[in-house]
Amino acid sequence: MAKATKVFRCQECGAETRKWAGRCESCGAWNSIQEEGGLSEAGPPARSLGAAKGTATPLVDLAGEEAPPPRMQTGVEELDRVLGGGLVNASAVLVGGDPGVGKSTLLLQGAARLAAHAKVIYVSGEEATSQVRMRAARLGLSSAPVKLAAATNLRDILTMLEQERPALVVIDSIQTMWSDMVDSAPGSVAQVRACAHELTSFAKRRGVAAILVGHVTKDGQIAGPRVIEHMVDAVLYFEGDRGRQYRILRAVKNRFGAADEIGVFEMTGAGLAEVRNPSALFLGERDPETSGSIVFAGVAGGRPMLVEIQALVGQSPLGTPRRAVVGLDSSRLAMVLAVLEARCGVAFAGLDVYLNAAGGLRVSDPSADLAMAAALLSARFDKPAPPDAVAFGEAALSGSVRPAAQAEARLKEAAKLGFGRAWTSPPRAHSDMAEEEGAAPEPSEAASGLQLEAINTLAALVARFQDD
Ligand code: TYD
Ligand code: MG
Repeated sequence: MAKATKVFRCQECGAETRKWAGRCESCGAWNSIQEEGGLSEAGPPARSLGAAKGTATPLVDLAGEEAPPPRMQTGVEELDRVLGGGLVNASAVLVGGDPGVGKSTLLLQGAARLAAHAKVIYVSGEEATSQVRMRAARLGLSSAPVKLAAATNLRDILTMLEQERPALVVIDSIQTMWSDMVDSAPGSVAQVRACAHELTSFAKRRGVAAILVGHVTKDGQIAGPRVIEHMVDAVLYFEGDRGRQYRILRAVKNRFGAADEIGVFEMTGAGLAEVRNPSALFLGERDPETSGSIVFAGVAGGRPMLVEIQALVGQSPLGTPRRAVVGLDSSRLAMVLAVLEARCGVAFAGLDVYLNAAGGLRVSDPSADLAMAAALLSARFDKPAPPDAVAFGEAALSGSVRPAAQAEARLKEAAKLGFGRAWTSPPRAHSDMAEEEGAAPEPSEAASGLQLEAINTLAALVARFQDD
């Protein structure tokens, strides 16, 4: 009989070791290593496989008629959009997010809508049936024909699913499921991995769509994290601040659609409401007369989105001034400040700098540089930016501003929301000469009706705030 060896596994990254340690050597996490029985105790196979007894795997050509995968619309449009047009049959989707962000609410709403025309099973491992019923009542969904189960034993759940063969099964959450084949606690990497594997292969085998809910740990990873992302067909993150009502559903991986799609929701007293015009939400309480504020015409997940960028610059009482950023990239702030200092002679030494993307949206678009610089300069010189202007463009270390991708879409969104002009760097061909002569290029009109004011360098932007 093979001797049972102990296996220790990091619960953060899944790395395996032979002995316990306080800190994981592969990801550096503290106190994350736990003893686990099971999976890898078998040892190496006695002989190599060789070509002896297999039947040859069949091969096919790349060319061939493939119909697009059949999809089911849940009826929650923002959810369908993020999924790439609806749930694909025989696929598994992982929905991750902080506890309390609204995953169960979203999926119960989606399940209830879909249940009107397909068989839907909702398995809750976290809440008792009565709690789920109470939530359904609050959402006004009590009459929806969703079948509900409160269970955590994977074997029982799979037996039930084999009998019922639903179109969609929601597993809330994967961390509460446990398989009796694996000898470790629910929520451990081995359990999460084994359960996710069983459920995804069931989904593929039986043509069922499975949605797995996964809680995210404090450092932003789904517990048992990377180990299940590769098993599923799509990974969606549901994010949002606790103090605010809106939530963003973001696709980070999607085998059947665009990976950068986003959907916007608002948490209300009666569940999640879809937000069709997110720009209006993020511009809500703007005061155009204050300095240090400008609207950034961004693109998030292939969708244009306007966000107000706010800056505050003030004398620092500290030896090392503070640089604080909310919703933007702090290394990009450092870069923009350095370029303003080195290339444009605007000093920020001895000044505290605060930068905020209003509404709590997280902006990762690099073309926010120009808007960040405009907000900083407006605060630094205490001069409001024109209230009808939007800005976008990526700054280079040389101080020049690069044209941004999807400019037309940004301009159109800005025009739709009533903005009159855009500060940006138009594609090069037209602007080289003006730049050489140092003269400000003539404003031109974009197809969207917006006045285009070319800003090809950060120095040109500084001139707009320094002059009077
Ligand atoms: P929930 O869906 O339970 O979050 P998760 O499954 O991600 O842990 O949502 C919990 C929060 O949402 C809770 O704090 C209350 C709030 N909420 C509302 O504001 N309105 C509602 O209609 C519902 C059902 C929940
Ligand atoms: Mg929940």
